Amino acid sequence: MASCRMALLLGLLLLVVASPAIADDDSGIYYQLALMWPGAYCEQTSAGCCKPTTGVSPARDFYITGFTVLNATTDAAVTGCSNKVPYDPNLITGIQGLNQYWSNIRCPSNNGQSSWKNAWKKAGACSGLSEKDYFETALSFRRPINPLVRLKAKGIEPDFGLYGLKAITKVFKSGINATPVIQCSKGPFDKYMLFQLYFCAAGNGTFIDCPAPQQYTCSKEILFHPFKKWMLKQQLNQDDDPFQLPGVAWTTDTPYRRLCLRFCQVCME
Ligand SMILES: *[C@@H]1O[C@H](CO)[C@@H](O)[C@H](O)[C@H]1NC(C)=O
Ligand SMILES: *[C@@H]1O[C@H](CO)[C@@H](O)[C@H](O)[C@H]1NC(C)=O
Repeated sequence: MASCRMALLLGLLLLVVASPAIADDDSGIYYQLALMWPGAYCEQTSAGCCKPTTGVSPARDFYITGFTVLNATTDAAVTGCSNKVPYDPNLITGIQGLNQYWSNIRCPSNNGQSSWKNAWKKAGACSGLSEKDYFETALSFRRPINPLVRLKAKGIEPDFGLYGLKAITKVFKSGINATPVIQCSKGPFDKYMLFQLYFCAAGNGTFIDCPAPQQYTCSKEILFHPFKKWMLKQQLNQDDDPFQLPGVAWTTDTPYRRLCLRFCQVCME
C-alpha cells in the first residue's frame, strides 16, 4: 500500500492550450471552449484543490477554463479592440451556472474573480460581446455539450477506468456532431488521463470540429480519474458541507485502493 501511495504522488504534468485553424461562416469567426475535468486537475496539482470562497459548491462536472473567439481566416484570437474594456466583476454577478461550471478550485481558496478577469482580458474584451454576454455565451455553449452526462450515458465514467479515445470522441460525434480535441495529462502510474476537452462552434452557433486542431499526447486508452468532493480541501471556517471533509483519502474504500487493485496488485499485500 505504501508504494502505491508514493506512486500516486508522482506524475504531475500540465500541457498547453489548443489553437485550431480554418473555419467558414459568414460572421468570419468561430468559438472555442475549453472544458477541464477537475478530477484530473486535483490529481496532478501539487497544491491540491480548494473549495472556492464564493459560498457556492462547484459542480462535480467539467469546468470552463477558456472561451476564445477566433478569426476564421487567420485562426488567431479576435483582436481589434483598440481600447480594452476593463473587467467589471459587478456585471457578471448572478449569471446562472457561472460559479458552478466556471469554477476555480485552485488553492489557496479563491473567489474565482482572477480566472474570469483573465478570460475577459485575454479573449472576452476583444470578442465583440459585452462582458455579461461573453460569459453567458460560454455557458450556453457548454450547456448542450453537457459532457459528463453524455459520457456517463455511454458508460464512460470517472471511475479509474481506462477508456478509448475513439469511444470518447464518438460520444460527442453522435451527440453534437462534432469531435472534441482531447488533452491528456499524466496521472497515477504514469497513465495518461482525461484532462481537457476542446469544442468549437461556428459563428452561427453550429458545433464544428475544431479546424486544424492542436495535437496532444494521449495513449489510445486513457484514465478517467474520479472527482470526489473530499478532494476539495476544507477551509477552517467552512463546515457547511458534510461531503467536503478534509483528506480522508486512505481509508479502505478510497478510489486509490481501487486503482491499486486495477494496476498494481503487488501493492495490496
Ligand atoms: C452555420 O455555419 C456552418 C459552418 O460554416 C455551416 O456549415 C452551417 O450550414 C451553418 N448553419 C446555419 C443554420 O446557418
Ligand atoms: C480576420 O482577419 C482578417 C485578416 O487580418 C481581417 O481582414 C478580418 O477583418 C478579421 N475578421 C474578424 C471577424 O476579425
